[in-house]
Amino acid sequence: MDVKLEGINKSFGQVQVLKDINLVFPSRKFITLLGPSGCGKTTLLRMIAGLEPVTSGGIRFGERVVNELAPRDRNIAMVFQSYALYPQMTVRRNLGYGLRVRKTPKAEMDAAVERVAAILEISHLLDRKPAQLSGGQRQRVALGRAMVRQPDIFLMDEPLSNLDAKLRVTMRAELRRFHLDLGATTIYVTHDQLEAMTMSDMIAVMHGGIVQQFGTPAEVYGQPANLFVAGFIGSPPMNLLAGELRGDDKPTFASPGLTVQLPNLVAHPPSRDVMLGIRPQDLDLVGDHEPADLRGRVWVVELLGSEKLVEVEYAERKRVTVQVRAETSVNVDDTVGVRLNARRAHVFDIKSGATLRS
Ligand SMILES: Nc1ncnc2c1ncn2[C@@H]1O[C@H](COP(=O)(O)OP(=O)(O)OP(=O)(O)O)[C@@H](O)[C@H]1O
Ligand SMILES: [Mg+2]
Repeated sequence: MDVKLEGINKSFGQVQVLKDINLVFPSRKFITLLGPSGCGKTTLLRMIAGLEPVTSGGIRFGERVVNELAPRDRNIAMVFQSYALYPQMTVRRNLGYGLRVRKTPKAEMDAAVERVAAILEISHLLDRKPAQLSGGQRQRVALGRAMVRQPDIFLMDEPLSNLDAKLRVTMRAELRRFHLDLGATTIYVTHDQLEAMTMSDMIAVMHGGIVQQFGTPAEVYGQPANLFVAGFIGSPPMNLLAGELRGDDKPTFASPGLTVQLPNLVAHPPSRDVMLGIRPQDLDLVGDHEPADLRGRVWVVELLGSEKLVEVEYAERKRVTVQVRAETSVNVDDTVGVRLNARRAHVFDIKSGATLRS
């Protein structure tokens, strides 16, 4: 079932925390609300669940306006970061709870519980009580409890945040696969851009109560709409360098220590003050005597397994991060050249932050 948010505003007292949200989440897709702490993700999710009234605007599930519908009448399942299991019930009974209150036949309920327990790898814990589980195991039971029902819409608010790093990576894939089996529209909240990138069909990037961009992971990564999205998506983060645009038929970015032609610039800039964005993967190190776009000195080298991040200081204490293969031989204080793949560069208007690449 698709979910439509039409002109949603939300204020707590005088403070407006969500501003004119207009989004359509297509049926059966995995949608992520992504943004830094305090941007309004949980508030938006709670409004979709019916746990928080909207200040203005409409929420539709399919064609039906659900603003006045109680949470239990929305056919949603929810998992929140702060979940509560029934302490006196076994894991099996906790998992089956939602089905039991709906008077599901026992055989069907047992099958659903076993299936979800197998997916979450908690089959061996079914006869334990919550107090006999680790934090991560409890979190999985909470997930499982929401999964056993057949909701139209599955809402999750940072459900993996209490799990250790390794389990989180496994669970990302499990949730993604479960989403495909479940056939529900999933709306998932996280502040972790990597989680969003790996799991989602579409991502709504939020900041300050405003949706900055809504698109596929490839779109928000490859064509960030503005400076905020450019800086928030991608790890290591995009280099952002201030400078100015020169020349109209052959636009050139000019800044102390770096001048480069920009073949992709299409939109007409409202001002000459711009920010050049270039990902560390789109820069390359060359020897001191080879042609380069900028020259500098290696400030620090970080080994990340198969890659190395090399921070190069140039001009007046400016720095760029270059990603190279781990085998590349480079040391602190080496003088190096840096080449830039200008076709992959982004340009943003400094004042509005909007991209100038069409
Ligand atoms: N009941 C409330 N009363 C007043 N202000 C609130 C209330 N709930 C949330 N807020 C404020 O609304 C803003 C958005 O909060 P919200 O919990 O939606 O953010 P979030 O994006 O989920 O952040 P986090 O990643 O930290 O969970 C915050 O500034 C928060 O302080
Ligand atoms: Mg939150």
